[in-house]
Amino acid sequence: MSKANLRVIPLDAIHHRTLFNCGSEPLDRYLQQQVTQDIRRRVTACFVALTSEHIVAGYYTLAATTVPLTGLPSGIVKKLPRYPLLPAVRMGRLAVDQNFKGLGLGGALLADALNRSFVSDIAAYAMLVDAKDDKAAAFYKHHGFVPLPDSPLSLFLPLTTASATGA
Ligand SMILES: CC(C)(COP(=O)(O)OP(=O)(O)OC[C@H]1O[C@@H](n2cnc3c(N)ncnc32)[C@H](O)[C@@H]1OP(=O)(O)O)[C@@H](O)C(=O)NCCC(=O)NCCS
Repeated sequence: MSKANLRVIPLDAIHHRTLFNCGSEPLDRYLQQQVTQDIRRRVTACFVALTSEHIVAGYYTLAATTVPLTGLPSGIVKKLPRYPLLPAVRMGRLAVDQNFKGLGLGGALLADALNRSFVSDIAAYAMLVDAKDDKAAAFYKHHGFVPLPDSPLSLFLPLTTASATGA
């Protein structure tokens, strides 16, 4: 199956996710057992890449957050207003099922999340991600994300940059 056959929509109860397997047990368990509760409590939103048989091939989560101005690289801080906290969108989780890896789906889900955040009526300066390990951080760096100086597994991408590059 190619990623062209998939559509990205909000997670729904009818979607099949019990067999989801991305190779990271906590990310699988979150989708299978916890995400619907988090959605109900409005602490996260979840979007899934879905096959025509309603099987979840990949997913990501988004929530509002803030980033302290002092946590950003000094070269960027110079160009920003002096608010102590800047609004941001956190992509808390991103995962692709093993059967769909290497097809460009992870990159497509990331682009979908960036675009969704950019076109929102609610302003956010950047997208923040928490990489679970160095390999995940390399994936985000490959897509233009920059590590926070004091926390290299937390990375950010200004949404204007993402929009300009079509990331
Ligand atoms: C990381 C993950 C989402 C990537 O999904 P994927 O669909 O296999 O990746 P894609 O096929 O979309 O790859 C897109 C691009 O990223 C690159 N890429 C993929 N993994 C990479 C890595 N670890 N480091 C650097 N680049 C990477 C690919 O080479 C490709 O490059 P190209 O567009 O220039 O050809 C997937 O491997 C996964 O679910 N991993 C387990 C969970 C995880 O680590 N999530 C990350 C958040 S914590």
